[in-house]
Amino acid sequence: MDAVRTSPPRPTGEVGTANRLTRRRDVADLVAEARGGELRRTMGLTQLTLLSVGATLGTGIFVVLGQAVPEAGPAVVVSFVLAGITALFSALSYAELAGMIPGAGSSYSYTYATLGELVAWVCGWCLVLEYGVSVAAVAVGWGQYVNELLELTVGWTLPESLSGPPGAGGVLNVPAAAIVVLAMVVLLRGARESAVVNTVMVAVKVAALVMFCAVAFTAFRAGNFRPLFPLGMAGVSAGAATLFFSYIGFDAASTAGEEAKNPQRDLPRAILLSLGLITALYCAVAVAAVGAMPWREFAGTEATLSEVLVGSVGGGTLWPILLSVGAVVATTSVVLAVQYGQTRILFSMARDGLVPSLFARVHPRTGVPRANTVIVSAFVMVLAALVPLGALADATSIGTLFAFALVNCAVLILRRRSPEAPRGFRVPLAPVTCVLGVLCCGYVMWGLGSDTWIAFGLWMAAGFAIYALYGIRHSRLNRPVPQEETAE
Ligand code: ALA
Repeated sequence: MDAVRTSPPRPTGEVGTANRLTRRRDVADLVAEARGGELRRTMGLTQLTLLSVGATLGTGIFVVLGQAVPEAGPAVVVSFVLAGITALFSALSYAELAGMIPGAGSSYSYTYATLGELVAWVCGWCLVLEYGVSVAAVAVGWGQYVNELLELTVGWTLPESLSGPPGAGGVLNVPAAAIVVLAMVVLLRGARESAVVNTVMVAVKVAALVMFCAVAFTAFRAGNFRPLFPLGMAGVSAGAATLFFSYIGFDAASTAGEEAKNPQRDLPRAILLSLGLITALYCAVAVAAVGAMPWREFAGTEATLSEVLVGSVGGGTLWPILLSVGAVVATTSVVLAVQYGQTRILFSMARDGLVPSLFARVHPRTGVPRANTVIVSAFVMVLAALVPLGALADATSIGTLFAFALVNCAVLILRRRSPEAPRGFRVPLAPVTCVLGVLCCGYVMWGLGSDTWIAFGLWMAAGFAIYALYGIRHSRLNRPVPQEETAE
């Protein structure tokens, strides 16, 4: 790849505050850093696609669907398409950047190379919502399906006080906290979901959802779709905002650039392919679910898909049990993958000096960033135990949408700044597509409730404070560049 210098050579002396906020990392530097990685390049298109599908199919489709149906009515299918289109625009931008800066690891690096350090920090801070907070949400879904399995198999469930957060009839969500601790133990041992394990887990989840469709279609009633839009377009938008959560994770392949055999070619393809597969599956599940159970009955469901089967399909508990096992497997794999991903993002931010170096300290024997893993897990565990699923999912979505909007902007900027740089994939019809991407992200964000916006505002304020007090002073870009590196 040609050296693409996106930033002027770093000065060796003091820099002013404005320059600090806008200083950028070189694309060429990022690519070289990725090439210098010690990971083996073993992943082809299929494995990369499965990685993204594995990180995406989880609590969203198995549980959050039950919150979106009462918002949109049968038109929840349209909400899925709307959320999918928003994801598609951003996926195209991810695909271009992943092919251009392979291995650099997601939107944080892309914005560091294009929009400067402050925006990169904002993006990284939003990724904590996309990853850290979403693990908590997925963990809550895991707990709900474990409870459902207990009920279906032994006729007993955990008392509400121990399986729900305060404010939703509970005191502490013990199962949700428990899966986070279990994932921490696995990650501390240095284990990471291997490609083979991921493939098996994806097969189980897809099989569970296909089985759901097949069984639910036996109870299909076309009348359940009349009227299609009982709550109008406002309902459809609210549903899309809620369901956006279920698409989060399709960009997971972009974090595996250092392990891809042919990242420039395969990363873009994997991202788009996984998004296509996921959208098709989600629409089929939504049609089957609403066809089997009238939309008003979805309110208050917890293990939604299983409850649809219990309520509308005869044949005892066999299908709901199989479905619930699939859901538990699905959510376990998302928790593992995303909790790992969060530690890895903080690891790169610590390497860049934007968060304390503690997060980049690796245990000499296991190679695991231990303190990082423990701190992240403790944070996630507290959220999982104390916050309701809806609030967690919406906080995840708003942060992710904001980060996606920045990724679309990054494509626009790199097109102007480095038009000749090699790209494994180009966003078709850019800049129109990228601008539409930003607008769609804004539109879906708009559909989220005022509580979510307030939480997001507080989160961003905390992020700016941390950057002002720590990141700006400790950034790696403060360090003088060796003379030979600055020589042209
Ligand atoms: N998309 C992921 C899920 O639905 C976060 O669980």
